[in-house]
Amino acid sequence: MSLLLFFLLSPVISLAAERCHPDDKAAILKFKNSFSNGPQLLPSWTPDRDCCTIFDCDETTNRVTDFSLTYSNLAGTIPDAIADLTYLKTLRLHKMPFLIGEIPQSLTKLKYLRSLDISWTNVSGDVPPFLSQLKNVLFIDLSFNNLSGLIPSSLATLPNLIGLDLSRNRLTGSIPESFGHLVSQDPQGLSLSLSHNMLTGEIPASLGKTNFYRFDVSRNNLSGDASMLFGTSKNTTSFDISRNNFEFDLSPVSFMTGELVALDLSHNKIYGKISFQILDAFVLQFLNVSYNRLCGKIPSPWKLRYRAEGFEFDNSSYLHNRCLCGSPLAPCK
Ligand SMILES: *[C@@H]1O[C@H](CO)[C@@H](O)[C@H](O)[C@H]1NC(C)=O
Ligand SMILES: *[C@@H]1O[C@H](CO)[C@@H](O)[C@H](O)[C@H]1NC(C)=O
Ligand SMILES: *[C@@H]1O[C@H](CO)[C@@H](O)[C@H](O)[C@H]1NC(C)=O
Ligand SMILES: *[C@@H]1O[C@H](CO)[C@@H](O)[C@H](O)[C@H]1NC(C)=O
Ligand SMILES: *[C@@H]1O[C@H](CO)[C@@H](O)[C@H](O)[C@H]1NC(C)=O
Ligand SMILES: *[C@@H]1O[C@H](CO)[C@@H](O)[C@H](O)[C@H]1NC(C)=O
Repeated sequence: MSLLLFFLLSPVISLAAERCHPDDKAAILKFKNSFSNGPQLLPSWTPDRDCCTIFDCDETTNRVTDFSLTYSNLAGTIPDAIADLTYLKTLRLHKMPFLIGEIPQSLTKLKYLRSLDISWTNVSGDVPPFLSQLKNVLFIDLSFNNLSGLIPSSLATLPNLIGLDLSRNRLTGSIPESFGHLVSQDPQGLSLSLSHNMLTGEIPASLGKTNFYRFDVSRNNLSGDASMLFGTSKNTTSFDISRNNFEFDLSPVSFMTGELVALDLSHNKIYGKISFQILDAFVLQFLNVSYNRLCGKIPSPWKLRYRAEGFEFDNSSYLHNRCLCGSPLAPCK
């Protein structure tokens, strides 16, 4: 008798155990079916599968909060259905080489989004200005795509942004003046990566006011002065402006010393001397000032916390300058 009761009740029990909200389930199935190879690549995403076993759901509301798909050969454009997962905090579409088309405007429906990562895909078109409507977003990673056009200045109005990575695209134009108004809510500072694009023009002076935790504009064609980005009060740990067209006097520059781990100024037209104040950068691990127009004595001795006494960076950190001298290059005359 009790066995019979069990069999009668078990379908009820399994139904009650399903956490997935029907709207989220519909959106996920629609997402899958919008790709021609979706049914083939996502065979386990079926109507009878609880979507909260595939994706993270909120403990109390049971709404899907994290949609992450990586290393997938799904072929097609980003379906609008993704934006029907209205409670998403994290959206990650990463390493999807056959993901094409533009970033859809429907994403602006994701009012709770905190992290948007569409990286290593073949999405094209521009970096959409409408992303500035995602007022809760902390991180935007659109690196390694096929995006072109200008960087929208409206991104600077995102009140909570602490990380923006637009590297490895085909972006043109200059860094928007408005980026100087980005105020990081994180005391550590802002992480900005715009490397490997085709950006031109000068870095807006306004960026000198921003505290960057990480700053990388390497491999563009930026020009002019970048000295306002330095300074002892900055918390920058990683600073890379290599392979551009910067031309400024390094002599008066004070380096951000406390937390600087990596400094790459190589392949520019930077002139003047390297201040001995750089020796205060006691956690520096990587230094490259090669291929510039620097002169004067190479600062030493280093007193690096994580290196043996007497350590110095090897000559490839300094080669191809106008007249740098002293160890590890030839002695100064
Ligand atoms: C974009 O597509 C090209 C050609 O199909 C492919 O070689 C490349 O790896 C793709 N890019 C990414 C980031 O997956
Ligand atoms: C990148 O986008 C352009 C159009 O903007 C297109 O012609 C090209 O085929 C795309 N490249 C890849 C690898 O998809
Ligand atoms: C550097 O970071 C510390 C905390 O990590 C913070 O208190 C300080 O304000 C930061 N400096 C700047 C210039 O923002
Ligand atoms: C980079 O910009 C300079 C002007 O600042 C220009 O003369 C040069 O042709 C540009 N180089 C490339 C590769 O676009
Ligand atoms: C750089 O140092 C290496 C040894 O570490 C040496 O073989 C090389 O000749 C040096 N190059 C120059 C240009 O001083
Ligand atoms: C510095 O950059 C130059 C030019 O890209 C490179 O040849 C050299 O190996 C680099 N040195 C270090 C220490 O990274």
